[in-house]
Order: sequence, then C-alpha cells, then structure tokens
Amino acid sequence: MICDESVVRTEILNGFGIVTIDNPPVNAGSTAVRQGLLACLAEASKMDLQGVIIIGAGRSFMAGSDIKEFGAPLVPPELPQVIEAIEDCPHPVCAAIHGAALGGGFELALGCDLRVAAPNAVLGLPEVTLGMVPGAGGTQRLPRLVGVADAIDLVCSGRHVPAPEALDLGMVDALSASSEAEDLIAAAQDAIRAASGKRRLRYLPVPAVDPEACKAAERTALRRGKGRPNVVEAVALVKLSAELPADHALLIERAAFQTFRFEEEAFALRHLFFAERAAMRVDGLQAKPAEITQVGLVGGGTMGQGICRAMLAAGLRVTLVERDSRARDKAAHAIVKALDDGVAKGRISVDVAEQRKALFTPSADLADLAECDLVLEAVFEDMAVKKELFGALDAILKPGAILATNTSYLYIDEMAAVTSRAENVVGLHFFSPADIMKLLEVVRTKDTSADTLATALNLAKKLGKQPVVARVAEGFIGNRIYAAYRRHAEFLIEEGATPQDVDTAATEFGFAMGPFAVGDMSGLDIAWNMRKRQAATRDPATRYVEIPDRLCEAGRFGRKTNGGWYDYDTGEAHPSDAVAAIIDEARAAKGITRHVFSVEDIQDRLLGAILNEAALVLEEGVAQRSGDIDVTLVHGYGFPRWTGGPIWWASGQPMKRIKAMMAAVSTAAGPKAPSGSVQDMLAPLRAERKEIDRRKSGDA
Ligand code: COA
Ligand code: NAD
Repeated sequence: MICDESVVRTEILNGFGIVTIDNPPVNAGSTAVRQGLLACLAEASKMDLQGVIIIGAGRSFMAGSDIKEFGAPLVPPELPQVIEAIEDCPHPVCAAIHGAALGGGFELALGCDLRVAAPNAVLGLPEVTLGMVPGAGGTQRLPRLVGVADAIDLVCSGRHVPAPEALDLGMVDALSASSEAEDLIAAAQDAIRAASGKRRLRYLPVPAVDPEACKAAERTALRRGKGRPNVVEAVALVKLSAELPADHALLIERAAFQTFRFEEEAFALRHLFFAERAAMRVDGLQAKPAEITQVGLVGGGTMGQGICRAMLAAGLRVTLVERDSRARDKAAHAIVKALDDGVAKGRISVDVAEQRKALFTPSADLADLAECDLVLEAVFEDMAVKKELFGALDAILKPGAILATNTSYLYIDEMAAVTSRAENVVGLHFFSPADIMKLLEVVRTKDTSADTLATALNLAKKLGKQPVVARVAEGFIGNRIYAAYRRHAEFLIEEGATPQDVDTAATEFGFAMGPFAVGDMSGLDIAWNMRKRQAATRDPATRYVEIPDRLCEAGRFGRKTNGGWYDYDTGEAHPSDAVAAIIDEARAAKGITRHVFSVEDIQDRLLGAILNEAALVLEEGVAQRSGDIDVTLVHGYGFPRWTGGPIWWASGQPMKRIKAMMAAVSTAAGPKAPSGSVQDMLAPLRAERKEIDRRKSGDA
C-alpha cells in the first residue's frame, strides 16, 4: 500500500498503480474521496509505473458526486482539481468501471486517458435530472468522444447508458470479459499497454458537427426537458464544445454548475431524490423478504394486462387467470400482441419477446395458481366479487403465499378477513398503464406482517417501480388526495370558473394535464356509478356539486363519447356550449353569483385542497411522512417534479399565502369539512429550508 486515505487507497500490481475508491454504499464522490484521490494520485505520479488504474470497491465505480454536498459551498479540492491531477499525472490513467459511473463519477472517468467497462456498468450524466448541469467537464469532454448531437441527448436526458451501448457510442474504449475485479483490471492493463501514452480528452478535436442531427437532438432535448432553464443551458454548453477551446468552455461550464446547484429547482429535486429512497423504507421494519419467482394474476383487463407486461419484463413467471376461456384467450392475445408490437417498434428484440412469452401462461382455472408465491387480483372494483375471489384463492394457495389486491379504493382489511392468512394480505396499487407508470402504492392492512410488507417492497424494486407505503383508507394516499383536488375543481366551476380556466391554471402551474381533461380521458361514468351507490348514505350537509351528474345524464362520459367536460367532435378538446349551459343552470338553481377567478386564485384553491387532504392523510397515519406524499403526487398524478412535490413546494411559500389558501379551501368546502393542520405539516420542512439557507451562505 503506497497511499491509504480513509476512503481511497493505492496498491501496486504488476507495475500498475491501482487506486481504489472505497466509500460505501455507492462510492459517492464526497470531500474525503476527492482528498483521497488527490493524495493517491500525487503519490502515484512520483513512482515509476506503467500506468494508473482507478477502480471502485463494492458495487460501483462512483455513483456521482455526493448529492448531500451540493447544497453548500464545496470543501476543496473540487472535482475539476482532481481531474486536472489525473491529466497532469505522467502515467496513462485508465478508469476501470463496474456498476454505476454517473455524474461526477463519469466525469472523473472522462478525465482519464482511457476507460474500460465491465458488462454490468451503467454510465451517464444525470445532473439535469437534479436541476443542475454537469460541472466537471461532462459537457466538454463527452462531445469529443461521441459528437455534439449524441452528447446533447445524453446530457439532457441524463439517461443511464448500459456498457454495450456505451462501447458502441464511444463512451468507453473496451469491455472486460466479466464484471469481476480481476478481469476489469486485466482489461485496463491491456488498454494501457495498447495505448500510446497520455490521451487528454480536453485537447482532442470535437468530431465534425452534423447541423441537422444537432438541431434534431436539441429539439428533442428541449421538448423532453419541458423548457427547464438548466436543460436550455445544458444544450448551450454542449454546443460550446465545438465553438470554444476546452480550457475556456470548462470555466463557463463550472460557473453554470455553481449557479444552478443553488437554484430552488435543484433543492427541490434533491429533496425528491432522497424522498424517493426514504419512501422505499418502513421505519423500524425488521423483516426477511421472501423470494418471488412465480406470480399469479387474476383478471386480465386494463390493469391485469399492464401488470402482466411489467412482471414479464422483470423476468417473473406469470400465470394469468380470467373468468372463462373466451376472456382468457382475449387477454392472452393482447399480451402476446403487445410483445410483438414491441418487436415491430424496435423496443425489444425478438429473443427478449420470446423469453417473455415463455414466462407467460394464460388460464381459466384458479387451481393453476396453487404453486404461486404471490397472487394479485385485478378484477372488477366490487367488494363482493373480490371477497369471493379471496376466499377461493385462500383455499387453493400454498401456505405462506401472498394474496394481493390492486383495488383503488376498497377496504382491504375486509377482503383479508375472509381468508385464513390475513398476515399475508397486502395491497399493490398499480397505476395505469401499469407497465409505464412508476408509482406503486404498497398498502398495509392492520394485519399485514413485516415479512409480507418487505416482500412487497422488494417486488416493487424488482419491477423498477417507485413504492410508497400506505395504510388502508378510502383511496389510500394518492386517490384520496386527488379526489379532494377534483372536488375543489368542481367547486370552482360551480362558483364561476370554466373547465378550461381550471385546466389552464393547473397546466400553467406545471401539472401534466388539468383535472377536467384527465376526467374526460379516464371516463366520467365510473365516478358517477360510485356516486349513485353512495347517494343514500351521503351527508346532506356536505357540499355536493351536481354538474358532473348532469353531464353523465346527458350521455357525456368523456372522450369515449366525444363529449365530457369538453367537446371532441373535431378530435381535439374544445369548450362546449352544452356544458356551459349545464353549468349556468346548476349555478342558477343554487342561486350562486358568478365569481371571476384569477389564475393564481384557481391554483391556490387546487393546491390548498391538496395540502389540506395531505395533512389529514399524515395525521391519520395513512402516509408515513410528508416526503411520501410528494413522491406519490409526482410519480402518479402528474404533479410537476421540479417543484419537489406539493408539500416541499408549499414549505417555500410565505405563511400568509398558505393561510389564505387554507381559509379559501375551508370556506369552499363548508364548516363540516375536516381541516388538516397544514402549518404543523410544513414546520419540519420550513426548518430544513432555514438550515439550507444557513449552509448555502457558508455558515457551517
Ligand atoms: N450521493 C449521495 N448519496 C447517494 C448517491 C450520490 N450521488 N447515489 C446514491 N446515494 C445513496 C442513496 O441515497 C442511498 O442511500 P440510503 O441507503 O441511505 O437510502 C444509497 O446510496 C443507495 O442508493 P440507491 O439509489 O438506493 O441504490 P440503487 O442500487 O437502487 O441505485 C444508483 C444505485 C447509483 C443507480 C442510484 O443511487 C443513483 O442513480 N444515484 C444517483 C446518481 C446521480 O444522479 N449522480 C449524479 C450526481 S452528480
Ligand atoms: P377491467 O374491467 O378492465 O378488468 C377486469 C377484468 O377482470 C375483466 O377482464 C374481467 O373479465 C376480469 N374478472 C372479473 N371477475 C373475475 C374473476 N372472478 N376471475 C377472473 N377474472 C375476473 O378493470 P381494470 O380497469 O383492469 O381494474 C381492475 C382493478 O384494478 C379494479 O379493482 C380497479 O379499481 C383497479 N385499478 C384500476 C385502474 C385503472 O386505471 N383502470 C388503476 C388502478 C387500479
């Protein structure tokens, strides 16, 4: 050992200096790592070596700079200084990459003369997804390897590129035979021996620019990046690589990075990064997750098919049971067709499609599920149907097998009660389309065991989903908060706003779609049927807007009937005179004088409704923490990600505005409507923001 800093060490192997970064769990590039790298490189530079190899211990090369450090002034040395030390090292330096080389980790590799990757490596520059731009040469060195157009795509999408594609693109020079450290080091030694000395990327020319390809990449990047300022800047920085000497452009890039990392959006996105990871955990959970390989699905409709596609893609064996042979064949045909379409569109290879088909067994007999580790039902949203099914499955399934439900609203404890395995019952609430939407609410009943919960969370990870743990309640976390939001959107209509006023205010805030456009897309009849069922038990003192019922009575069920809150006769949504007349009539019947709302009034009411319900959800313990609610709304309901979610957003608003929002919500909903303590909910985040401001100013 020639150098042993706490998290970086250097050993000599066959005349090569092996610099190992060892900062578990993912070798994030913290201050200690940067200091260690600098010390070990200085030491290696003085020695007589054939070359230096930088490698990561554990599961990755380096998963980026330490995100926790981005919110405060950085302690030297900063990453560009470490990279300069690599460039100044007299020996060729090779990055030997396994696992993640992301953000600052990939920039460190780009600072090396050579890069070899293990088959399990993923490389990329995800800084834009954290509201920033790369700050240690990513926008200048990457185009020198892959060209400006591909660099715009990589920098602005932030996507994680798998090793074989990285080799094709030129991001790495070679792949190792396996992901074992010995093979990786051998490949790095071979690369150094074959190279003719140093190869500093900053001095390489940028490949000839193809203006059409660049324009296309820029258009796509800006569209996908929803015009966020850091994405616009990232495009400009990459283009600069072909216009200015790297020494100059690197300084401009660093200055942009320093600005963006302190912007509100970057703090919000860092909040979400850590909230997403916290949401996967249940505090104090001591459990042993079971291995799930064989899954049963009951119900092959919209949700069953989407869930089946997601499970097959994750390599799980799936038996899908429908009511009868006709329904079974229809669902099976749809699953196979989706795989064939994936091949036709170039999304998956023929081999992958065939592998997935081989994992899939359609059936019309519940007895075929006897050997499953987990069975998930996605049949009609009807308690009697689900209870009968759970009873039947309980008798068939092997002991310990998990029984899960995809119900959107129903009380799962009631379903669990008809089984002899209440501890193995859990809600797995997927969102539509289930193979695309990332959110998965994992719903625990009063009896769900710790092992069952841990198994469900593990399954979510295997499926690539973002789990959030909820307790049983009408609509759990997401649908319950969304229902309050939609209710207040309807109050606004009754009081004087038009559907397009409300939808425009929502999309101007950053929602993917407004509540009425969403309603028309998913169909208004399902909620209507539910309201009719609830009519007898509804509290007459609760404010109720009849307008959606009038629309349904007029046959306006949404897009599928060419009319809902909007008309669709031209194919596009446009305001409807018939709807305006229905609204005027309903308003007149209640003697309501039409009020004119500003965009901000509408936004405040909608956001206030979300905050009030979020506070209730937290107080009742339906959600564990406010970050889980932010994650739910962002991943399942189109809430703008760059705000950090509704609660993080609200914690940055003046208290006066929040109080006025809550007063407006309370007045609209009426005195009997429950009010949550929004101020209590926001208090910890307000304290966190104070701490952020203190650290930002360097006041450690
Ligand atoms: N800085 C600080 N902490 C980081 C980190 C980073 N760059 N990357 C990961 N971590 C932490 C996570 O917060 C998590 O901590 P926890 O166990 O206390 O919750 C732990 O490392 C493991 O990360 P996790 O995401 O749960 O592991 P994974 O195997 O699912 O994914 C990665 C691994 C590397 C793909 C993923 O962590 C990732 O994308 N990291 C961020 C990469 C990035 O954006 N870097 C750019 C920064 S410039
Ligand atoms: P769907 O009507 O499209 O599909 C239900 C399927 O279940 C039908 O194909 C039907 O033949 C089958 N089925 C009914 N009873 C059965 C039984 N006893 N055995 C086998 N198959 C049976 O409904 P969907 O939209 O897929 O919803 C299914 C469940 O998922 C519901 O509980 C719903 O609340 C929930 N959910 C739906 C959505 C959504 O957006 N559609 C989102 C999340 C959750």
